[in-house]
Amino acid sequence: MAKNIILVGFMGTGKSVTGQIVASRLHREFIDMDHVIEERAGKKISEIFADEGEARFRALERSLVQELSQRENLVIATGGGVVLNPDNIADFSRTGTVICLHANPDIILKRVSQQQHRPLLEGDDDKARKIRDLLEKREALYKAIPLQIDTDNHTARDSAEEVIALTSLEK
Ligand code: S3P
Repeated sequence: MAKNIILVGFMGTGKSVTGQIVASRLHREFIDMDHVIEERAGKKISEIFADEGEARFRALERSLVQELSQRENLVIATGGGVVLNPDNIADFSRTGTVICLHANPDIILKRVSQQQHRPLLEGDDDKARKIRDLLEKREALYKAIPLQIDTDNHTARDSAEEVIALTSLEK
């Protein structure tokens, strides 16, 4: 069995689309953590945040990390805040290769500005400032991941190629 491939990184770095391409190229099961959490909760992430609070969402995210870390052969797209709990990265690293996708704040703003499903950016008129603030707070956590891909001038297909190259180097 093969180690899991886990994509982390800020919102709008392309984790989900890239993960889907990697999974189909490697004939592996793809797991989008936010989708699994939504399916199990029977509501959208933004509703979980609004009804039950961010702490509840982080608890659901944490227990899904523990569950997925017991499995193999998966390609996993995480939510952007998975790095906030160092136990998440420690668990994923034990049974998988964790890769961080990076993009600069202007590109992130362009990619997320048409989308409405991100509770941490909702209701904030100045999305650019919110993105910069969040990125700044989390920068050290993302940078601490040894394997990094810069997605600024990348399509998701380019990022997927890099993910596959990085994971095959590891074998
Ligand atoms: C979050 C990112 C979202 C989602 C939730 C919280 C974050 O996932 O998990 O809204 O804290 O950065 P994406 O990175 O897929 O947008």
